[in-house]
Parts: sequence; structure tokens; C-alpha cells
Amino acid sequence: MTRTLSHSEAKAFYDRFGARQDSQRFYEDAAVADLIAHSDMRRARAVFEFGCGTGRLAAHLLANHLPPACRYRAVDVSETMVRLARRRLARWQNRADVAQSTGSVTLSAESAGFDRFIVAYVLDLLDTEDISRLLEEAYRVLEPGGLLCAVGLTYGGTLPARAVSLLWQALFRLNPKLLGGCRPIVIGDRLRGAAWALRHHNVVTRFGISSEVVVAVRDHADT
Ligand SMILES: C[S@@+](CC[C@H](N)C(=O)[O-])C[C@H]1O[C@@H](n2cnc3c(N)ncnc32)[C@H](O)[C@@H]1O
Repeated sequence: MTRTLSHSEAKAFYDRFGARQDSQRFYEDAAVADLIAHSDMRRARAVFEFGCGTGRLAAHLLANHLPPACRYRAVDVSETMVRLARRRLARWQNRADVAQSTGSVTLSAESAGFDRFIVAYVLDLLDTEDISRLLEEAYRVLEPGGLLCAVGLTYGGTLPARAVSLLWQALFRLNPKLLGGCRPIVIGDRLRGAAWALRHHNVVTRFGISSEVVVAVRDHADT
């Protein structure tokens, strides 16, 4: 069984890593741009982000994509990340709120209170139980018709990327902390049931690193 970081190990790692997280943009930006292009952010009313990191994506969305009345709320387990994100989002403090969590994937957010649920490069560091639970929580906090907007590391989409992916997995097995706890996974296949309708599913590869981009519509039926 894959050993992932515990919540306290993830907190300790990201407390230390802090602003260096933004150096990952060399492979993340293209995938995140694809995510935004398919998430209809201009019509969002209330956004929830799980694991916001330094708040880089939030600042970009608030400055360029979200309508002025749209609320933004995030949680992150890392104290350092919460401090960085709050500082970055200070100019939107009347509608953007970042809270430090315990790492639990059971959210305190109200049911059906949001129409976008963003999770960027976080599912890939959770264990499989937490991933399932978080997807259930995304379903709960999204209103019917709301969008799950997920991006994260996945298996290589090209031949060179497959080689990088194999190396990545070998390093991960050696010590997950070498890679911030992240490993390639597939999310789209988990969303093919009745609860979600896949709207966009893509693999974007930059510098040999592949990211899976998923936009899924929360079904109208209750589960
Ligand atoms: C790889 S970083 C990605 C940050 C940001 N979403 C981005 O794309 O730049 C992972 C983030 O998830 C946070 N995180 C990890 N495990 C978490 C958990 N169980 N609950 C909340 N946040 C978590 C970390 O503190 C870190 O900020």
C-alpha cells in the first residue's frame, strides 16, 4: 500500500516549504490555465478552495476571472501557507477568507453553499480514503450544477513523461517527503458514477511532468 504523508507531516513540510511552492508553476501553470478555461469562473458566485497554498491561484482568479460579487473561501493545513495566502489576498479581504484547518477532509463549510470547488495539486498527496471523503465533501458543499475543478499530478501522458513519472514514483516510494508528498494519481475515473458528470478531462504535460485536469458537474440528484 502507498504510504502518503500524515496530516501533521504535510503541515510540517508545507510550513517549511512556504513560498517556494510557487516555483512549481513551471509545470503547473499550463494545466491550471486549462482548468480555468473550462470552469466558467466569470459566472461563479461562491468559490471554495481546499489547500490554497500561497494563494497564488486565488489572487489570479480574483484579479482576472471572478465577478466582483463572488465570495472566495479556502482552507489549508499549513500555518505558513495561510499567512502567505492571507497577505496575498488582503486587497479582497471583504470577500476572501482563508482559514487554517487541522488537515481533516471533513469540512465545516455549509452544504450547497458554493458553486465552484477547487483543489489544485492536493488530492495527489492525500491517501485514498481522504480522497474519497474529500470528493464526497465537495459534492456536499457544492450546490446542484456546481463545478468540481481539480488538477493534480498524474501518470505520464507522453513517452518522456512516462519515464519522469516512473522516476517520480520510485522516489516517492523511497521517501514521499522528497516530493512534497505528491505522487501521480487518476481522479477522473472516480467521477464516472451518478453523482458527477465529467465536463472536461485532460492531461497537460510540461517539462515531462503530467497533470490531470478535471472539471465535473455536481449532479442534481441527492446521493
Ligand atoms: C502542493 S501544495 C499546492 C498548493 C496550491 N493549491 C497550488 O496549487 O499551488 C499542497 C497544499 O495543500 C496543503 N495541504 C496538504 N494537506 C492538506 C490537508 N489535509 N488539508 C488542507 N490542506 C492541505 C498544503 O499545506 C499545501 O499548501
